[in-house]
Amino acid sequence: MIKVSLIHGPNLNLLGLRETNVYGPLSFDEVNRKIKQRGQETDMDVRIFQSNHEGEIIDAIQDAREWADAIIINPGALTHYSYAIRDAITAVRLPVIEVHISNVHAREEFRRQSVISPVVVGQIVGMGSYGYLLALDAVKQVVEQSHR
Ligand code: DQA
Repeated sequence: MIKVSLIHGPNLNLLGLRETNVYGPLSFDEVNRKIKQRGQETDMDVRIFQSNHEGEIIDAIQDAREWADAIIINPGALTHYSYAIRDAITAVRLPVIEVHISNVHAREEFRRQSVISPVVVGQIVGMGSYGYLLALDAVKQVVEQSHR
């Protein structure tokens, strides 16, 4: 069974309450429920973590090295400036898929830059919270291919 660490960064716990015109109407719990359900349907073990603190996100990335086959991460605003998260991703050498709920390229200039995108397998952007489900499919593809 493929094991996935899914990490939500700062403010994503406020999904459903925060800028619903940008991030959609589903609550954080509803989004996580859909992720878990897709995981079960596709026979993947998905463990979900959220933190508003950069260091805790780095700890979660490092911890994934011990058990996960891949990481799905939406680092929130940390995407745009956290070299520490980027270094953690490089250090663990697991395949990482970056997800953004909103289309970051259609928003403020500062959101167009991701300091982590050069060290991830790929990005899923602008597909709403459905992007997490797409990311699960992508992980399956990437991990299965690497075992061939
Ligand atoms: C986000 C985009 C970021 O720019 C923003 O700071 C977020 C969420 C997204 O999922 O669209 O917190 O990562």
